[in-house]
Amino acid sequence: MNKPTVVSGIRPTGYLHLGNYFGAVRNFLRMQEDYNCYFFIADIHSLTTHPTPENLQSGVKQVLAEYLACGIDPEKSTIFIQSDVPEINELYTILNMNAYLGELERTTSFKDKARQQPENVNAGLLTYPVLMAADIIIHKAHFVPVGKDQEQNLEMARKFAKRFNRMYKSKVFPIPKPFTFDGADLVKVPGLDGSGKMGKSEGNAINLFDTEKEIRKKVMRAVTDAGPTEMNSTKPEPVQNLFTLMDIVSDPEVVKQFDEAYAKCEIRYGDMKKQLAEDIVAFTSPIRSRIIEILEDDAYLAKVAKMGAEKARESAAETLKEVKQLVGFKKLF
Ligand code: TRP
Repeated sequence: MNKPTVVSGIRPTGYLHLGNYFGAVRNFLRMQEDYNCYFFIADIHSLTTHPTPENLQSGVKQVLAEYLACGIDPEKSTIFIQSDVPEINELYTILNMNAYLGELERTTSFKDKARQQPENVNAGLLTYPVLMAADIIIHKAHFVPVGKDQEQNLEMARKFAKRFNRMYKSKVFPIPKPFTFDGADLVKVPGLDGSGKMGKSEGNAINLFDTEKEIRKKVMRAVTDAGPTEMNSTKPEPVQNLFTLMDIVSDPEVVKQFDEAYAKCEIRYGDMKKQLAEDIVAFTSPIRSRIIEILEDDAYLAKVAKMGAEKARESAAETLKEVKQLVGFKKLF
């Protein structure tokens, strides 16, 4: 098995939404076939924001169930919980010795977080990119699928990997590259509030786990305008966003109908929203049912997590052994 290795971590905060699905998860499903994939739930990273034990636990369970319900396959990919792999913490400690205060302080995600939670600027927040580097290079990853917001953290991981290799005159770590999908696969899902993309923190998201009622309510409330007054006019962003969502979930014929109605100034946004809501529900409701089914099956979740932890530990332990040799932790007796 000589497939390139891919590592991706997901923080267990909140529910997966349509933006996550079409922006990331759908690509993970394809990657499972051609890459040696490690998908993990970054519960250690979560501690930087001090969740209660109950919230942490239920968050981990929810993401695990959601990823499985979407079709991430524990037979094809290694799905694990970060804290089940203590080797990651060991590598993190070692990498910390070569991560410098200045570069960590300059990281955008650190500065953002420090601004968001000035009462809790902890050391874990500062060294977040080091832990992330450990996550990635402990499996000797070749690729990391990352969104824009994680590009800098990946750049840091590359830097730490190179630095370690150079310092110990070794090639133990491949230098991980960002995994970019070709244009056709890159779907930017807009939000429902008129501008920008769908995001958890923007409060404009439709979650895969939302009920039919919640979805209808959210869609019917989406921002539109007074309607076109001139034939064939270009659509303003809020309206275009509804069309983009429709492109993603609806039948092309249906989209065409509304498109033509818009061009002729005959569009009724109420009707369009109703249709959009139904098409979103048709897409999400089977996923929601699977999530519920999986959430009820603790034995299955435990089995998946155990299997993933075993596979991940095996790979992590191999790398850590080499690292310990290199730094000079040689067995004397
Ligand atoms: N920092 C990532 C995020 O917030 C999560 C993450 C942790 C990650 N470790 C990783 C992503 C390793 C990719 C690879 O989304």
